Amino acid sequence: MSNNLISRLQDELDGFERAGTYKKLKTIEGPIGDKVWLKGKGEVVLLSSNDYLGLANHPEVVSTARDALLSYGASTASVRFICGTQDIHQTLEADLARFHGTEAALSYSSCWAANTGLFAAITAPGDVILSDALNHASLIDGIRATGKGIIRDVYRHSDMAELEAKLKEHQDAPSRLIVTDGVFSMEGDIAPLDQIVALAKKYDALVVLDDSHGLGVMGKMGRGTAEHFGVMEEVDIFTGTLGKALGAGTGGFVAGPKAVTEMLVQKSRPHLFSNALPASVAAAGSKSLELLDRHPDMVTELQTKAAWFRKYLKELGLNPLEGDSAVVPVIVGETATAIRLAGELLEEGIFVTGFGFPVVPEGEARLRFQISAAHTEIELEETAKALQKCLKAG
Ligand SMILES: Cc1ncc(COP(=O)(O)O)c(C=O)c1O
Repeated sequence: MSNNLISRLQDELDGFERAGTYKKLKTIEGPIGDKVWLKGKGEVVLLSSNDYLGLANHPEVVSTARDALLSYGASTASVRFICGTQDIHQTLEADLARFHGTEAALSYSSCWAANTGLFAAITAPGDVILSDALNHASLIDGIRATGKGIIRDVYRHSDMAELEAKLKEHQDAPSRLIVTDGVFSMEGDIAPLDQIVALAKKYDALVVLDDSHGLGVMGKMGRGTAEHFGVMEEVDIFTGTLGKALGAGTGGFVAGPKAVTEMLVQKSRPHLFSNALPASVAAAGSKSLELLDRHPDMVTELQTKAAWFRKYLKELGLNPLEGDSAVVPVIVGETATAIRLAGELLEEGIFVTGFGFPVVPEGEARLRFQISAAHTEIELEETAKALQKCLKAG
């Protein structure tokens, strides 16, 4: 071990501590829900989880996962092409394909793995990938991992004029891919998918949609941002996670044409070199999709609560970013301010995270409130009032 390296790391960590930007993990004792029990603190209302529908603790999801654990064991113990695939993964994949209306789907151990394994496996020299400037880090890393000769370009966030100019510029490329988040996780806004699919049609491009924060949240049936815009059929490739609204714990997927998923089985590195997700998670994912089909009212409830929370913040004179999703950010300025306010809110019994540079631009640090169908109206009201109090106290 190099002492130089360790002391350099320690200096940098001390710098984070002095700047008030050091991230300290809080210990939760017990399950994730609308409230959690924090070690050394007690019960607090949780507004920073992605458990948008409260499914992480749903009795049917938990018992399905437990039953699969008992029948399939704890581990897949290898990579699927080496050790075979369990039928329960294939069931999940059929469910994901049906849910998205695609020919096929392939599961991964996370959406991070899906996004980082997708682009290099399906592109060839000369192909062009156009990516929204605010896309998730996993899409950025996945696009960076593409081979030599792939043209990678970024368009300003949701700027359709710039996207069109870039599509025009690359009209003669063998293939064009437009890559976007459905719901942008730091802003809470949604991609103008209706315009994106129209441009894709005009310039013969494929649309790749990561709807990790839109699945279970957007659209009448919770099928996501594409359902919200009525363009499910126009999106070519969906990626997403089982670990947010679906409450299955972890796991991700790519859903799209069979030629895509089959090529991923041949060439996608996280699929080839990493274990499949545990059977218990695959079973929980299928159960959550079934619950979503049976109870779209969960989605309506979430949408109503998120809209109410936004409106109430405005009534209190606070300034949430506009949006239709369950992510409600409030900009507070500097990173240290966001972290300090998050600490003060915790004292008030509200667990919310402050995000600063480099996750968001300098000077635009924010508190990001994430609403769940599991929250009660009283919890949301208390949260807004606590924020008002902490902001007033300065
Ligand atoms: C848009 C987006 N894509 C991908 C991911 C990664 O998902 P997972 O936790 O399944 O790796 C996230 C998680 O933060 C996300 O917000």
